[in-house]
Amino acid sequence: MLIRFTFSAFLFLTFFSAYLPAAAQERTYEPPEFAKKWSKPDVHPDHIVLNLTEDPATSASVTWRTSTKIEKGFAEIAIATAAPKFWRNAKTIEAKTEEMDASKIPDAKVISHYHSVTFQDLVPDTVYAYRVGDGKIWSEWIQFRTASKEPKPFSFLYVGDAQNYVLELWSRLIRQGYQKAPEASFIIHAGDLINNAHNERQWHEWFTAGGWIHSMLPSVPLPGNHEYSQFNRKDKESPRYLSIQWNHQFTLPENGLTDLRETNYFIDYQDTKIIVLDSNRDQDKQAEWLEKVLSENTKKWTIVTYHHPLFSASSGRDSPELRALWKPIFDKYNVDLSLQGHDHSYARGHVAPVEGKNVVSGLNMRDATGTVYVVSVSGGKMYNLRPNGWEDYNETRDRGAENTQLFQVINVNGDTLSYESYTATGELYDAFDIVKNGDGKPNTFVERKQEAIAPRRHDNTIKY
Ligand SMILES: [Fe+2]
Ligand SMILES: [Fe+2]
Repeated sequence: MLIRFTFSAFLFLTFFSAYLPAAAQERTYEPPEFAKKWSKPDVHPDHIVLNLTEDPATSASVTWRTSTKIEKGFAEIAIATAAPKFWRNAKTIEAKTEEMDASKIPDAKVISHYHSVTFQDLVPDTVYAYRVGDGKIWSEWIQFRTASKEPKPFSFLYVGDAQNYVLELWSRLIRQGYQKAPEASFIIHAGDLINNAHNERQWHEWFTAGGWIHSMLPSVPLPGNHEYSQFNRKDKESPRYLSIQWNHQFTLPENGLTDLRETNYFIDYQDTKIIVLDSNRDQDKQAEWLEKVLSENTKKWTIVTYHHPLFSASSGRDSPELRALWKPIFDKYNVDLSLQGHDHSYARGHVAPVEGKNVVSGLNMRDATGTVYVVSVSGGKMYNLRPNGWEDYNETRDRGAENTQLFQVINVNGDTLSYESYTATGELYDAFDIVKNGDGKPNTFVERKQEAIAPRRHDNTIKY
């Protein structure tokens, strides 16, 4: 009897094991090999990236890379029309060309030229076509739309750390994001775009993964801790420097602190102020700068973005000094939304409105909210969520995720900001609205996570 049972069990297992999902089998994974000169610059423009300026209604910046053989760069721009010879109206602008000598940095070993142009005096709310090159070798014509001068509905994307497996796995995420929100006006990259600050191959992965998306969807990048490293990573005693590529390869507003050029800045996009902070350094000086910028702010919506979260998502991580320093300023000036990275998991919660603003006639205070804080991750490295949510902070984490690549689409439409988070496969993972109630009153918070799929954790997803 026992023998017969065992034999049937054996048959059963043999038969069904062939149908077990591949995930249940142990597989090993080696990083892919790329061609030897794969990431090296060439006479053809590459790493073409569009960036927002302080005033995206009338200007836009583009930057690209070539080998040092190209000593002069040019950009051409015209109002785009469906008639193909729109270029008859094009203007040619000579680029600013600068050399990046990273030949002595072990992770880079490259000398390149970076060319940049800021297009000025553009017509608001208009589709432009531009191309870049040396006068003979050109990119394709690439289109983008300037911001409106007046408040007008718009949307943008936000992603957390890309950082690891960038070409292998971040590529699908950024492409799915573009597919979900093709009309998005820009994309915020909340730090840790790559893993090793000065690594040319990793930057080339980032540019290859996003491809032409980077040249037509303007980027709003900020540095994470992984954009700071020793020039030689083996020399642990030497100081950490901002990625040598950063200032060369991006052309960003220079309206922040001088010492933090292109890592601390702001953008006025229609009726929204986007404030970018560099949470890696000079946090006190930025607190003063932030106070000044916010005290002069006339925009309806205020969004801050930086890398290290004030309310951590993952186990064993916290930034109490930063929270003590920056949160009171966000509270004082009613910052609506804070977009963060660093924790390689997902957490979203909102905090109570500040003291003194708690009694407002006509507003149900149970629904009132202070700043909404989000941590998200877009690349392939995953950590564990804090076991008790935000209980240690006496605040409530409303939604969390583990082991899930995500991107966010944020819509700003008059008095309503609608936030949606999507998985790499395009499913709605989280949603809420924030509604304005007029000057000085707290916002109304509208929970919409019930529209989304079930919570994702390590224990209900493919083993990390
Ligand atoms: Fe990270
Ligand atoms: Fe980080």
